[in-house]
Amino acid sequence: MQGIQTFSMIKPDAVSANQIGAILAMIEKAGFAIDAISMLQLTQTAAEHFYAVHADRPFYKDLCSFIASGPVVAMVLKKDHAVADLRKLMGATNPAEATEGTIRKAFATSIDYNAIHGSDSDETAASEIFFFFPGYSLLIKRKPIL
Ligand code: CMP
Repeated sequence: MQGIQTFSMIKPDAVSANQIGAILAMIEKAGFAIDAISMLQLTQTAAEHFYAVHADRPFYKDLCSFIASGPVVAMVLKKDHAVADLRKLMGATNPAEATEGTIRKAFATSIDYNAIHGSDSDETAASEIFFFFPGYSLLIKRKPIL
């Protein structure tokens, strides 16, 4: 069975473009409930930990510097098939390939500045939620993530 939670993060490009509200509206309109939310700025070290899975990719350093360059909005989103449905709503990683109606088509300006992140599996969602919201499964009275 697919999980009912995913992790998402509005990236610094969309935050500085004043598009938090517009993106949250698209997320809610698509049927997601925002279950936890936090606006904060990551240190370079925290960004490197968050994106450690990409450590060998050529874009890793620039990606981490960008993510640490300004505030992000981190969220736990709830919906049946949350991971797959959010990835559909976000659209392709490269906005040049994103279809009409997706968040990246509307707000991303390049593959590097692509407005939003979403977990790629239930397992990744669990670890990304723990990274930003360590109390989520321990302190908050909700269903377990996996
Ligand atoms: P995100 O979903 O946050 O996961 C990793 C990010 O790396 C991705 O969005 C892109 O913004 C960025 N990135 C830059 N170049 C690439 C690439 N060639 N392939 C995948 N992701 C890339």
